[in-house]
Amino acid sequence: MDALSPAMRNVPAHREDLVAEILRLKRERGAVLLAHYYQDAEIQDLADFVGDSLELARAAQRAEAKVIAFCGVRFMAETAKILNPDAEVLIPDLEAGCSLEESCPPEAFARWRAAYPGAVAVTYINCSAAVKALSDIIVTSSSAEKIIRQIPAGQTVLFAPDRHLGNYLARKTGRNMVLWQGTCIVHEQFSHKALVELKIEHPEAAVAAHPECPEPILALADHVGSTSSILRFVQENAAAEFLIATEPGIIHQMEKLAPGKRFISVPGSSGECGCNVCPYMRRNTLENLHACLRDGVPRLEIPEELRLAALRPLQRMLDMSAATLPTGD
Ligand code: 13P
Ligand code: SF4
Repeated sequence: MDALSPAMRNVPAHREDLVAEILRLKRERGAVLLAHYYQDAEIQDLADFVGDSLELARAAQRAEAKVIAFCGVRFMAETAKILNPDAEVLIPDLEAGCSLEESCPPEAFARWRAAYPGAVAVTYINCSAAVKALSDIIVTSSSAEKIIRQIPAGQTVLFAPDRHLGNYLARKTGRNMVLWQGTCIVHEQFSHKALVELKIEHPEAAVAAHPECPEPILALADHVGSTSSILRFVQENAAAEFLIATEPGIIHQMEKLAPGKRFISVPGSSGECGCNVCPYMRRNTLENLHACLRDGVPRLEIPEELRLAALRPLQRMLDMSAATLPTGD
C-alpha cells in the first residue's frame, strides 16, 4: 500500500490523495520518474532517481522502463529521448526551457562554428537537440574539465552557450577557448555584496558555488562544481554551516544527506525577488506531473535524423567522462 512507502512519508495530508494517484499512475504506465535537484522537494521525494545532468543522462540511457517521466527542464528530457529512443519520455511542462538554450539558436550557432574551421565545438548540455547535433562533444558541469583535458593541446575549443562556465573551464585547463556569450539567468545574478555580508556574519561557513556563477562569486567559494559535487562537498566538509550559491531546490537533499548542518541560500541581487529560483525548473508541479502521467502528454518527439546527429556528441560525452586517464606519474 502506498501509504507505507517512503514516497508517502513526508506528504502533507492535503497532498496525500494526489501523491497516491501519481504513484498509482506511475505503476500503471510502467514509468520511472527521474528528477533534477532543482525540482520542488515534493517532486524529488517521489522520484526513483534524483541527480545532476550527467547522472540523469546516464540513468535515462540505462532505464528499462517503458516510460520515463522527466522532472527537470526540456533539454534534459530531450537528452533522455535521444539516449533512450524506445522509451516514451514525458515532461510535465514542455515550456520548461532554459535561458542558456534560448541564448543559442541553432542557425547562429552554425554560423559561429563555421567562423572557426579546425576548432572543436564543445557544447554544454544546456542547449537544444539541434545545437547538440551541430557540436563535436557535449559536456555537463561535472564532466567538462575531464573532457576538455582529453582534447589535443593546441586545438582551439569553441565553448557554448555559458560564458561563465566557459571562463571557469579556460582558467582551470589553461586551454585556448572561444566562448559563446550566454548566461544562466539564475546563477548570473547571485549577489556578490550579499555573499560578502553573509561571510562576515558566518565566518566559519564554507561556500559552495555552481560554475555557472560569475567569477567574483566563484572567487569566494571553497568548492566549485556540479550539483552532485556540491552535495558531496557539504557531506564531507567539516563545516557546520554552508553558504549555497546555486538553485535552492538542492537544499532539500542537503538537509536529508547532512542533517544537523545549516544551509543558507545566497540571495539574488534584487533582494527579495526570489530570483535565485529557476523559473523553468519550477514549472513542474505535482499537479502537472499527475496530468502528464494520466494523459501521456506532453511527450518528447525528436525526428530520427536529428536524434542520431545529436546522439553522436552525447555518446562521446558518456564515453569520455567514463574514460580512465593516465595519471601522468
Ligand atoms: P548540473 O549538471 O550541475 O546538475 O547543472 C544543471 C543546471 O542546469 C545548472 O543550472
Ligand atoms: Fe537553465 Fe539556469 Fe535554470 Fe539551470 S538554473 S535550467 S542553467 S536557467
